[in-house]
Amino acid sequence: AAGRVVVVGSLNVDSTAYVRSFPAPGETITAHGLRVALGGKGTNQAVAAHRFGADVELLARVGDDANARLARDTLAGFGLATDGLGIEPDAPTGVALITVADSGENTVIVASGANERMSPAVVAGARERVADAGAVLTQGELPVATIERIAEVAREAGTRFVLNLAPPVEVSPDTLAAADPLVVNEHEARAVGIEPGDAIDGWLAAASAAVERGLAQSVVVTLGAAGAVAAERSDADGRVTAWTQPAPEVTPVDTTGAGDGFTGTLAAALAAGHPLVDAVRLATAAGALAVQQRGTVDSYADRDAVVAAADALEGAA
Ligand code: RIB
Ligand code: NA
Repeated sequence: AAGRVVVVGSLNVDSTAYVRSFPAPGETITAHGLRVALGGKGTNQAVAAHRFGADVELLARVGDDANARLARDTLAGFGLATDGLGIEPDAPTGVALITVADSGENTVIVASGANERMSPAVVAGARERVADAGAVLTQGELPVATIERIAEVAREAGTRFVLNLAPPVEVSPDTLAAADPLVVNEHEARAVGIEPGDAIDGWLAAASAAVERGLAQSVVVTLGAAGAVAAERSDADGRVTAWTQPAPEVTPVDTTGAGDGFTGTLAAALAAGHPLVDAVRLATAAGALAVQQRGTVDSYADRDAVVAAADALEGAA
């Protein structure tokens, strides 16, 4: 069964230059490829959730410019509704300037533009749609007051709140505490005080301790090629369980937006009623597929491919 996901998110148009290696300050280099395509963490996650079969509503802000048209056309091409894209006439559509080196590493500069205009009032207006959804999902690319409002609206509506704290902005403890799960990479985890000891066992203990002390309802830490660790409190006996989810071995081509593929799939799977352990496995499979293709939204596989890749992972962990 498909779940409904409301994504309150950022939208950017990504200009990605593919280079042999990063330029040094003052240096001019020639790219061997350029790609201009829809991005923004919220939008990427909305597309990933949609590709997994969720009924997705994306609330975002764009300018009144050519990039907004590119955004609408791309979303429509995927079969996503665009009526949740509000127009800010005197702000440009968000832009991300990305470089991807042959090593697979990237750098990203975001000029937020219209995303900065995503006010808490937008969220208040979406109350009923949030109440009808299986999950509401947001990220760190919106104003902090808006992220905090989403957590409140989700709590009032009794809707599962999925928070991807990327980038790691400073939100209230109440907002973190509402996250179910809080999805972070290693860098973002450290920013909220999830401090690992050594290697994967350290992350396992840190995620478990974070749920134990109520930092978030549940926690998922993505570890790139090492997969993910997750922790949650069991409904049955209130005890915290934590586990690791290994990733398949793949050759990355472009990791940009892979975390978004992971998070969007995770939210869609949770909204469809999968337990967190299954959702993390599906999300890990989706992320591994995404790193093997260039770009963000165009690198997300459809539901069947994600399920097949996740089945191949089954039994691991
Ligand atoms: O996570 C990848 C995304 O981060 C890119 O699409 C870019 O727009 C930035 O928001
Ligand atoms: Na990709």
